[in-house]
Amino acid sequence: MKKIIVAIDGFSSCGKSTMAKKLAGETGYIYVDTGAMYRAVSLYCIQNGWMTETDMNEVEIKKHIHSIRIDFRTNAEGISETYLNNKNVESEIRTLEVANGASRVSTLGFVRRELVRQQQLMGEKKGIVMDGRDIGTVVFPTAELKIFLTASPEIRAERRYLEMKEKDENVIFEEVLANVLERDDRDQNRAESPLRKADDAFVIDNSVLTEKQQQDILKKLFVEKTTSN
Ligand code: DC
Repeated sequence: MKKIIVAIDGFSSCGKSTMAKKLAGETGYIYVDTGAMYRAVSLYCIQNGWMTETDMNEVEIKKHIHSIRIDFRTNAEGISETYLNNKNVESEIRTLEVANGASRVSTLGFVRRELVRQQQLMGEKKGIVMDGRDIGTVVFPTAELKIFLTASPEIRAERRYLEMKEKDENVIFEEVLANVLERDDRDQNRAESPLRKADDAFVIDNSVLTEKQQQDILKKLFVEKTTSN
């Protein structure tokens, strides 16, 4: 079976990472969550005071972008966690504040170029499942298997809302929905690498699919791609 690159793109809170992680686990491929990389940059900017709710200091971010090192390490339970300059930031990057910041720093061309460079290095040997917004279009335009995952904004907001409620976060559904719509708008309309489906990507709309149905479709496509010439 040949080793391939699996690129999974789509809107926020679509379940891309669940899908990607599962496939990586089943196939022994490396999993890379590129959203976590933009979140780590966002956290770094917030911690250094270069990003507030209203401002973003592009000059300082540009000056320091090459001193941001992001990598993924597997913990004792076999779960991949995000490290920023050698510090585990996996839980810190999952807040709404950091997500909003990530959506803003990801509009900066110099941030995207640096992260894309790091992502391309990670995929040099193939055998990788990478999820994000521009993986099939910019990072790996020649990836053997490209998926574009989508679901309605209301369904995505509901999933996110339930997830946050479970963690005891004080959230209001309308706010989560507004946040999903705002991020969709920014992801699709930014000048640099906007979210779009690659021409050769398979679309999976999981609004009405169970996780198992979705995974079966993905696995079938994976087997086809790894066994074909
Ligand atoms: O998938 P996520 O919610 O963790 O992503 C966080 C933000 O990063 C999101 O607003 C979009 C952005 N992003 C991006 O622009 N390109 C990627 N390849 C991955 C994420």
